[in-house]
Amino acid sequence: MSDAIDDRLPTQTLPVLLKGQRALVTGANSGIGKAVAIALGQAGADVAVNYVTGDTEAQAVVNTIVAGGSRAIAIKADVSSEAEVQAMFQQMMRAFGTIDILVNNAGLQRDAPFDQMTLAQWNFVLGVNLTGQFLCAREALREFKRRGVVKSVSVAAGKIICISSVHEVIPWSTHANYAASKGGIMMMMKSLAQEVAPLRVRVNSICPGAIRTPINATAWNTPAAYASLLRLIPYQRIGEPEDIGRVAIVLASDLCDYITGASIFVDGGMTLYPEFSTGG
Ligand code: BGC
Repeated sequence: MSDAIDDRLPTQTLPVLLKGQRALVTGANSGIGKAVAIALGQAGADVAVNYVTGDTEAQAVVNTIVAGGSRAIAIKADVSSEAEVQAMFQQMMRAFGTIDILVNNAGLQRDAPFDQMTLAQWNFVLGVNLTGQFLCAREALREFKRRGVVKSVSVAAGKIICISSVHEVIPWSTHANYAASKGGIMMMMKSLAQEVAPLRVRVNSICPGAIRTPINATAWNTPAAYASLLRLIPYQRIGEPEDIGRVAIVLASDLCDYITGASIFVDGGMTLYPEFSTGG
């Protein structure tokens, strides 16, 4: 590994901004979801760790959160299934009583040139990435409406954070299903934010750029790939899952109470049209 590839974030003690709150993070057994679940736990929240495959990894995330002093449970459910999402929320209600923070993270890629993309690849990506966020947001909203604001916990009645992508605005050749799902998340998030703001429910997106996770390993796991990736990132390092976890803590907290309907890009400048730094 070159120094550039090992450009990791130093460990930090995180502020306890979410004491007494209860969070559900989907797709939390690996990658960004895992880092967000652990960060929210470190910030004092109790965390339901959703996953669909990988019981051992999900249990390891639960163990890490519990070792840090918060409560955590693993819940297996496919977010693209209405019945499984409803059962997951019931399980969370039984364990924690309510929900304050939903992090809609579960997402995947099935890349293909457009003329070779199968309907199954299209539907699978849209089903998990977009329909999954709809189904989870709907259940969370029902509980936020039922319960309302509890000021000792948070000044908002609930917070929904959608994990979108820079590809909600950057078109991506051979990834039309993925980019369409992320563009869809943007308008679902903003429409929902507008609808529920009077209820004091905040809805926002975090839009990660290239983050060091298994989903994009081929973009960073050799020196040549990493050098090529850095041409797209003005800040000249890949993002770490913890970069997203830290933003999620602050965005979920009352420090950000006046932020709703926002897409927050956490991308080292990937959306700054880096090719124009030397051209145009
Ligand atoms: C994708 C990654 C990609 C990144 C930047 C993310 O949404 O999942 O595969 O590296 O966008 O292009």
